[in-house]
Amino acid sequence: MRNPVTADLFESVRTVPLLQETMAEGAVLLRGYARPFELELMRVLGRILEQAPFRRMLTPGGHQMSVAMTNCGSYGWVTDRTGYRYDPNDPEGGKPWPPMPPVFRELAERAAGGAGFAGFSPDACLINCYQPGARMSLHQDRDEHDLSAPIVSVSLGLPATFLFGGLKRSDKPNRFRLEHGDIAVWGGPARLAFHGVAPLADGEHTLLGRQRINLTFRKAR
Ligand code: SIN
Ligand code: FE2
Repeated sequence: MRNPVTADLFESVRTVPLLQETMAEGAVLLRGYARPFELELMRVLGRILEQAPFRRMLTPGGHQMSVAMTNCGSYGWVTDRTGYRYDPNDPEGGKPWPPMPPVFRELAERAAGGAGFAGFSPDACLINCYQPGARMSLHQDRDEHDLSAPIVSVSLGLPATFLFGGLKRSDKPNRFRLEHGDIAVWGGPARLAFHGVAPLADGEHTLLGRQRINLTFRKAR
């Protein structure tokens, strides 16, 4: 079901020129792309969190992640002592993850298209919550079956420093500031680029307070 409010928003931002920055071949930043949707995104995020609250998962090595996570969509990315996987059910409670709201899907598909990846159809959205000090170490997104689909990553709340490297862990990453409303898209030759997030600096965001929320859209299956 199409929400008339967001349908109007998508229509009205269609003609706004893209503020596009290149991170690497196949990797771009769409500056402020999600900003017109901030209130709608927060509203549906609240609904998701009622059904599937944030939790800090365990790495296979037994460490608790500093980033709290949840998911929506047909599959959710989870980690525990047995490893990483996409799971159709929330391990806490065993029920399916909340469905991906239409505004999430449409924003991700349009951002992918704007970045040159037409036809993106995500089935998984990992939702990351960073408190001050939380970080994500360099990694590749490689648990997805279809690596021809890009990754679409929406930043909300406090600004973060995104580390975007190459295809080898040892490649020195470049640093990009991700602000509220920015969307990073990477695929093609950059699909398996190492990336991470530097420890979040403390601050207060007018809409989200002392946190950063990141929505990562993927085609898992
Ligand atoms: C991730 O790589 O899953 C998260 C990236 C981010 O928080 O910007
Ligand atoms: Fe990632």
